[in-house]
Amino acid sequence: MFDWKNNYSCNIAEIDKQHKQLFHLASQLYDIAKASDDYDYYDEIVRIFNELSDYTVYHFKYEEQLMDDYGYDSEETKRHKFEHAAFVAKMIQLQKEDLDKKQKKILMDLIMFATDWIEKHILHSDMKYKDFFNSKGIV
Ligand SMILES: [Fe+2]
Ligand SMILES: [Fe+2]
Repeated sequence: MFDWKNNYSCNIAEIDKQHKQLFHLASQLYDIAKASDDYDYYDEIVRIFNELSDYTVYHFKYEEQLMDDYGYDSEETKRHKFEHAAFVAKMIQLQKEDLDKKQKKILMDLIMFATDWIEKHILHSDMKYKDFFNSKGIV
């Protein structure tokens, strides 16, 4: 589920590296969610969730900067930035929920949502800029 697949590759080393890190953080959360002991993982969950959140923001900014710097199609840029912003808004909303109660249920919902979103976004939206950036010599 969190394994990197070759069809995720945008053929841009730095972007692929960042996408791999997103999957890595999501899989760390998944490992905690499926742990069946009674240990209280609250601090760890919050730490990794914040890390995932921060890294996502960093990654989105990186992509958006490339689009601006290299003059990627303005409609596509607008649409892409909108998708990023919607995801960040959702993450902030989840961050406000009380992770302490129903810890694992919220965590599972979060992991499923985030992973599904990231996968779809990479395969559809990020994939659209692949040829453009490659043609600009970004690989
Ligand atoms: Fe991306
Ligand atoms: Fe993106």
